[in-house]
Amino acid sequence: MITIIGSLNYDLVTFTSRVPEAGETIQGNSFEGHLGGKGLNEAIAVARLSSPEVDKSTQVRMWGKIGDDYQGVELFKCLEVSGIDMNLVQVVKGEKSGTATILVEESGENRIIIVAGANGKLQPDASQLNKHFPVDSADQLVVLQNEFPNPEFIIDWLTENRPKIQKFYNPSPLVITPERLSILNKVEYLIVNEIESFELLKGLTKGGQVNLKQLDEKETTSDIIKHGESLISELRAHLPHPTLIITLGSKGCLYQITPNDKPGYQPSCKVDTVVDTTGAGDTFFGGLVSKLHEGLTLDESLKFATFASSLAIQKKGAVEGIPFYADVCKAMKQ
Ligand code: RIB
Ligand code: NA
Repeated sequence: MITIIGSLNYDLVTFTSRVPEAGETIQGNSFEGHLGGKGLNEAIAVARLSSPEVDKSTQVRMWGKIGDDYQGVELFKCLEVSGIDMNLVQVVKGEKSGTATILVEESGENRIIIVAGANGKLQPDASQLNKHFPVDSADQLVVLQNEFPNPEFIIDWLTENRPKIQKFYNPSPLVITPERLSILNKVEYLIVNEIESFELLKGLTKGGQVNLKQLDEKETTSDIIKHGESLISELRAHLPHPTLIITLGSKGCLYQITPNDKPGYQPSCKVDTVVDTTGAGDTFFGGLVSKLHEGLTLDESLKFATFASSLAIQKKGAVEGIPFYADVCKAMKQ
């Protein structure tokens, strides 16, 4: 069983040639409502990307909150048609569903403001965790991000009470507090992008000097690998426990399972036209989780995840852009 604990949002997306300056009004190209939220995107990605041949029984469970509005109904339906267990998705009376206001530029790049709404009420406590993660529950994976109030409580509780459960954590959107920093070394898989790794390093070194520069467009593959390796080794100094995965957008990703391993590199796929990058990271994360759960190696899983997210960025919308298993297999054969 794979449990995703996290947000469900209604995404209000404006596609625009450029974003306005402060005080400026500009004409956008189009407006669309889409389903999203990091938790929902991850759950749908795991469900769609699971291989029907390898594991017919992969059960995906979502733990989240929605508002008692029409957006909540849409979010609920979306889980239902994807065959996701929704017993732990509750409607919060008198509350709105979470929203994300998103601007997507012609390059496909996005800017997002989230308002928690019902997601702000998602605060599993010890007795709920105890009930929904029974002691004898085997083969459990838990996927978490930061779009609800207390991922740190859940990670602490699972670490202490259910040490066999594997925790996959993407600390996004990043919040740097002592509590959030203290859980980073308790998860089995930590997945961060380049900017997040810089910010985490600043937090972990308590504002100390981080002697790394960001990659620029012209860097060669060997520059990228060198850069990723130094990011990994800086993070490792503080985080000996988790498998580290650092995503570098169009430059691929680097990973290291234990501190003694040589970091590996997974290049990105070439994409001609990027339409909308919203949800691509969640697709990558969901693809990774589903393949690791099916027993693929980390290399193989990251390769699959990379292809999945390369398809996601060629479509509009977060959930709507998430490909299915067969689409990814086809893309990998081309
Ligand atoms: O990661 C993409 C998601 O971030 C969007 O779907 C939006 O809802 C925000 O949560
Ligand atoms: Na997309």
